[in-house]
Amino acid sequence: MPAYLLDVDTGIDDALAVAYLAALPDTEFVSVTATPGNVDADQVARNTLALLELCGRRGVEVAVGARQPLSIPLLTTPETHGPQGIGHAVLPEPEGRVSPRHAVDLWIEHAKARPGELTALITAPLTNFALALRKEPDLPELLAGVVVMGGCFYYQGNTTPTAEWNTHVDPHAAKEVYAAYRGRAMEKLPVVCSLDTTERIEMRPEHVRQLAEAAGAAVPELVLPDQPEGQRSTSDNGIIRHLSDALRFYFEFHRRYDQGYLAHVHDFFAAGVAAGTLEYTARPATVDVEAESPLFAGTTVADFRGLWGIGPNARIVSGNNPEQAFRELVTAVGGLAARLG
Ligand code: BDR
Ligand code: CA
Repeated sequence: MPAYLLDVDTGIDDALAVAYLAALPDTEFVSVTATPGNVDADQVARNTLALLELCGRRGVEVAVGARQPLSIPLLTTPETHGPQGIGHAVLPEPEGRVSPRHAVDLWIEHAKARPGELTALITAPLTNFALALRKEPDLPELLAGVVVMGGCFYYQGNTTPTAEWNTHVDPHAAKEVYAAYRGRAMEKLPVVCSLDTTERIEMRPEHVRQLAEAAGAAVPELVLPDQPEGQRSTSDNGIIRHLSDALRFYFEFHRRYDQGYLAHVHDFFAAGVAAGTLEYTARPATVDVEAESPLFAGTTVADFRGLWGIGPNARIVSGNNPEQAFRELVTAVGGLAARLG
């Protein structure tokens, strides 16, 4: 049974990642922790708790760790993910409470209690993970594996011309994490889902319609480019309604940046890589991060040729299969929505 330590900055595509993992019958959420990024850490935690409850996962421990990046002020992105981080969706108040524990302590405690069993998935800036590695340098050996959404390698950034959002929010954390993986065995190296391949995972209105169909909706779920921005879903299925409202915002955002009426659902892809359900290939590389230069802050650099003379510290996803990914998403999340109503 796959057991996860999940760190998120929920986030529209984080929400899809959580819903997808919740939809898989054998997922165990060991703990889900909040890193500030798309919105502040407390909002991330509230969003994530509410979402887990909506997806039938009451009682999962959700905790906050860092409330700021390691060395620079926090930048959030309401223009990308909406004022609360989940687009036009307004999630119900969670019944549970955010844990009083610190995210970093939870990660270390669980990893030590179950050595070699837990898969880490980080779809947020690497702040909490860097702090956990500072406190427990053996964490890479204790975890079964790590999947990270972040970076772009010789591919245009989505925050600056050369930097991806998660890495740009906390470049110092990302630099520390990649440094901590130098000299580790190949199977322990983080699998890195960067923009080069996550931007191929283009969610479109037809996928929202298919999700609702798979959920058994009587009325087609239509999110269309010519509808007024901010139009809300009237679906009587809670999961479909909230995801549809969230994704509409993400479609509108991508259209504003001339990318079409679609959304790159990066974090869902990373979740499928962690779950082993989505097809992908990966290449070993030595990764480093520029943290100081004003021009290149958050830029990720991969040495695929051994030019630095340092062994690989990451496995960068180099190929994926968007059609298979969306078939899988529709079946899994549509099925969950059908079961929960
Ligand atoms: C990443 O940045 C965030 O806005 C998304 O949730 C994703 O994790 C993509 O660059
Ligand atoms: Ca994210």
